[in-house]
Formats: sequence, C-alpha cells, structure tokens
Amino acid sequence: MAKRDFLAVTDLTRDDILRLFDLAGRMKAGAYRETPLAGKSLAMIFAKSSTRTRVSFEVGTYQLGGHALFLSSRDIQLGRGEPIADTARVLSRYVSGIMIRTFDHAEVEELARQATIPVINGLTDLSHPCQVLADLFTVREGLGTWEGKRVAWVGDGNNMANSWIEAAQVLGFELRLACPEGYEPNRRIFDRAKQGGACIEVTEIPEEAVEGAHVVNTDVWASMGQEGEAQARQNAFRGYTVDAELMKLAAPGAIFLHCLPAHRGEEVATEVIEGPQSRVWDEAENRLHVQKALLATLLG
Ligand code: CP
Ligand code: NVA
Repeated sequence: MAKRDFLAVTDLTRDDILRLFDLAGRMKAGAYRETPLAGKSLAMIFAKSSTRTRVSFEVGTYQLGGHALFLSSRDIQLGRGEPIADTARVLSRYVSGIMIRTFDHAEVEELARQATIPVINGLTDLSHPCQVLADLFTVREGLGTWEGKRVAWVGDGNNMANSWIEAAQVLGFELRLACPEGYEPNRRIFDRAKQGGACIEVTEIPEEAVEGAHVVNTDVWASMGQEGEAQARQNAFRGYTVDAELMKLAAPGAIFLHCLPAHRGEEVATEVIEGPQSRVWDEAENRLHVQKALLATLLG
C-alpha cells in the first residue's frame, strides 16, 4: 500500500474526516485502548517554536504505544545545510513517520516526496491543517455539525485561514473571511477552492463576516517569522479585534475559536477569549485526540 501523507486538509475526503473524527471521539471518551504505534517512532522536526503541536504529538505518540523524537532544526544537520532530501531518506530508515513544522511549505512537499514514510505538516507559512482538523472536531462537538453552518474568519489571511478555506472546500460549509487589503489568504488556495465549488467570500469588513456566523475564528496578526512586521501589522489590523461588540452580531449560541497562542487586546479581547462562547481550551485539547486518530490511521 502506498504511504499516505497529511500536508493539507485537501489530502482527506469528507468520509476520511468523518472516520477520523469517530476514532478521535472514541479516543477522547477513553473507549480506545489499542497501541498501534508499539515499536514505532515519530520524528518531529521543528524550525519554529511550539507548545501545543509539540506536546500533543509527543504525548499522543506515547499514548498509542510509540515513541516521539523532538528534533530542533537548529540541532540536526538540516539546520547546517544538509539537504531536506537526504534528511528524508535517512529518517525513513529509522522512524515510521515524520511531523515537521517549518517556514517554506515547499520544503515539506520535498520531504514528503523523498521520504518513504508518512509526513505530517505541523504548520508552515502556507497552512496548518492539523489545527483546522482539531477546530472542525471542536465545531462538531460544540454545535453537533458543520453542515449548514457559517464560519467567520477575522484577521490575517494566514496559514490558518488557508487551511480553513481548504476545509470549506472539502466539507461544504460557508466561510466568510474579513481581512485587510494586502493581507488576503493565498490566491491559489482560494481560487482552487472556488473552482471546487466552495462557498467562500472575502471582505474587508469584520461585521460582514461575523453577521449570523455560528463559529467566529481569529489568529495572531503577526505569525511566526513575521516579528519584524509587527508594528506595520498592528496598524493594518486596527478595527479587526474580535470583541464582545463584534460577537453580538454572530448567531445565538455561536462559539469562538483561536488556535493559540493569543494576544489579548490585539486580535481578541479578553472578554471574548475568557467568555462563555470561547471553546479555545477544548480546541487545544482536541489537538491531542484528533492527531492520535491521524497517527493511528497513517502510521498504525
Ligand atoms: N496552535 C498551535 O499550533 O500551537 P503551538 O504553536 O503551540 O504548537
Ligand atoms: N498563524 C500562527 C499560528 C500559530 C499556531 C503562526 O503561524 O505563527
């Protein structure tokens, strides 16, 4: 059987996602006791910081009977210029899967092409599919389904926004993004989703995106690697804070999501992230359950 990678939400079908979430649900409920990763190792390459991704993949691998290696790209030869292709071929001889967080998405694609084992995208500048899977699981948990729901994205058209667009393409819910001019999501991902029939719209007006939404989502204004643009971004994103006033426009019972880490007072007001509509801690927890289901499916 050919190995399967998970580089983008579009690598999964709707049925794949439903199956994955049933498994994740069983794992979360404590009704799964198998150890499909017994005797297996997961290499985790990090070129950027992480709390949730690192801990949830490491703990998840352990809970499935396997072992995870944290490899900072600063400490392995990759950081000294060893080609990604060589790294892929060598790691394929030792471990059963690779999770990678880095800057350039093309590097992850190259790693996946050269590796003979599954490769999982743990975030690139382009996308963050593991997070959006956990977000979708949280939506299903909170609202029962995403079918017929409207999802709002407020802020930067970043890696998270791009993965939400891919999710809308695969699952067919309505997605409205409010991004300032010059900070729109990736054009190629947007066009491909549109051609695939996705119900997505981009506006510059946060109120337009949030009006009647069942899920309101945001993320930092300056992502990892954009620290030098922080001041310019603060100016560009003025008026894009998800606060209680904006949340009032959402549908009754709407939930608030944020992948974290959050900057209170910037993209989200404290009253919202700490308020009754916030599901951010469940969302963070669900990284563990959904990724365990993913690991069991791809590496098990
Ligand atoms: N949401 C998320 O991926 O968090 P970390 O950067 O802490 O992994
Ligand atoms: N957009 C953020 C997500 C962090 C999990 C970043 O890339 O830094």
